[in-house]
Amino acid sequence: MSIISDDYNNSHEKKEPKKKNPIVKSEKTDNDNKFENVIRPKTFDAYIGQSSLKETLKITIEAAKKRNTTLDHLLFYGPPGLGKTTLAGVIAEQMGVEIKITSAPALERPRDIIGILMSLKGGEILFIDEIHRLNKIAEEILYPAMEDFVLDMTTGKAQTVKTLRIPLPKFTLIGATTKAGELSGPLRDRFGIIHRLEFYTDKELSKVIERTAKILEIKIDEKGAFAIAKRSRGTPRIANRLIKRVSDYALVKYNSEINEHIANEALDILQIDEYGLDTADRNLLKLIVEKYDGGPVGIETIAAALGEDVRTIEDVSEPYLLQAGLIQRTPRGRKASPQAYKHLGYKIPKSMEQQSLF
Ligand code: ADE
Repeated sequence: MSIISDDYNNSHEKKEPKKKNPIVKSEKTDNDNKFENVIRPKTFDAYIGQSSLKETLKITIEAAKKRNTTLDHLLFYGPPGLGKTTLAGVIAEQMGVEIKITSAPALERPRDIIGILMSLKGGEILFIDEIHRLNKIAEEILYPAMEDFVLDMTTGKAQTVKTLRIPLPKFTLIGATTKAGELSGPLRDRFGIIHRLEFYTDKELSKVIERTAKILEIKIDEKGAFAIAKRSRGTPRIANRLIKRVSDYALVKYNSEINEHIANEALDILQIDEYGLDTADRNLLKLIVEKYDGGPVGIETIAAALGEDVRTIEDVSEPYLLQAGLIQRTPRGRKASPQAYKHLGYKIPKSMEQQSLF
């Protein structure tokens, strides 16, 4: 897998982007990359969860192989950390082709996207993360590339303008986004398969944790894995991060394998509650409940009050709070649900008593 750039959202551990190659920007540390490469599944059997998507992909890959053609362009959308990049890697592995990974913010200038497209060899996969952030010019370069496998270049000015059509090898574009709604219609229409990745169940996350523990030679029992899974917000990236923290705790405090008690104690110390919320998530809920009477309150106001940017709140905190039924999105802003009041230890206001508590 060749990583041209990987702007993968890892909000806690940001590094200065490397400046050498304009296309090469990495926000991950080498350690992150090493760790993720070791635990990243390479086959559909090893990839846990997303079962309906996996079945669709297996058929599509087999058909493409039988016809000796490239795969249709694919778009994956859904909250961060659910394995979009990992899945793209599995697809490449199963097709037996190289994958080049980049992200839309790294494709600032026309020459960035042109350079990547011209570097592709027949059948290869180009993965563009955060594809909703692609600028208009890059998008327009992509249209003929995706549709007819050509680059349409213009040279000269005004009356002397000439268009040049450069053929490209057939390739597959895999786009990933946390915001499918922000993709332009023409770009969305050029993907043959569009699929949403779902949050993982606790059972699926337990399996992810047990698999990662085995690879990293961390000893953990079934209940210990389940305890971590329950606080991982349906997200394998979080589960894989927590297992390392809990493993450190088990080693230092108990010199023992991870069991349910140790996992819960470690997670309590890390201030990750039984919903998997961390301090930042709870601050967001508290703000809506305590300062805005449960809302509705606009996302810009929330972001300003928390000193966060809107995008981080929308992409990182909000998807799971919505999924867990702790907040609701209304046309007038975000509202805390009765569950949020209960979770924070507040009495549910009379006006909310009719709303369901599930
Ligand atoms: N690590 C991260 N995501 C995974 C998945 N879906 N299956 C197995 N291991 C993973």
